[in-house]
Amino acid sequence: NYWWDFMKVGFFDSGSGAHHVEQSFLISNPGIETLVYADYKNCPYGDREHEEIVDLTTQWVNHLFQEWCDVVILACNTASVHALRHLQNTLPRHQRILGVTYPACEAIRDGNFQNVVVFSTDATRKSWVYTTYIHLIAGNHISVTNISIPWLVQAIEENNILKQKDLIQASFSHIPDDTQIDAIILGCTHYPIIADIFQEVQNTFKYLKNATLIDPGLEAGKRFISWQKHHYHKDC
Ligand code: DGL
Repeated sequence: NYWWDFMKVGFFDSGSGAHHVEQSFLISNPGIETLVYADYKNCPYGDREHEEIVDLTTQWVNHLFQEWCDVVILACNTASVHALRHLQNTLPRHQRILGVTYPACEAIRDGNFQNVVVFSTDATRKSWVYTTYIHLIAGNHISVTNISIPWLVQAIEENNILKQKDLIQASFSHIPDDTQIDAIILGCTHYPIIADIFQEVQNTFKYLKNATLIDPGLEAGKRFISWQKHHYHKDC
């Protein structure tokens, strides 16, 4: 056993995505104790302003630390892009907190992808955090297209599959069709829950067919132990 086998990891998301990220995380880190909080009452965060997202996220993160979590993972992309830096800069040093966006950008670098599409909430798209991190980590030359899919989170929470397909189809048609896309980041915690629907719709577009779908939660799980070893907590 290693010391991180005895850690308690808290997960926070605005909705059902929290459980999905926890399950993805456990694939790479089996046996770690977890605690999951989801703010169904205030979901969606993706339509909210920056200050509101920071305030709500801070409250939930504090609850997780009160429950003796050693590390908290912001499983929510919207919370990660808006509140992570603020929390890392204001929480006491022993309260370690990580997000899911940085690991997804590392996956772009590691896969040597050149033409990337990021699907996310409106609040994530407007922040430009994905573009900034991809350029920082993987290189300025990488083309990044940010597209938000309004109402998709609600359609996922309602389990309305027809609506999910329609919304995904409509947003895929916004992608310029003159370039082969090689990676698609599902940059909202809810989206990987319906990765099979993304894949199905994707297969109907010639220039998107071969793109790799990136799940930020899964990428965060894969990189978690190396973060612990290297104490990279300011960098993700
Ligand atoms: N969990 C949020 C995210 O990953 C999406 C849902 C919401 O808008 O609250 O961006």
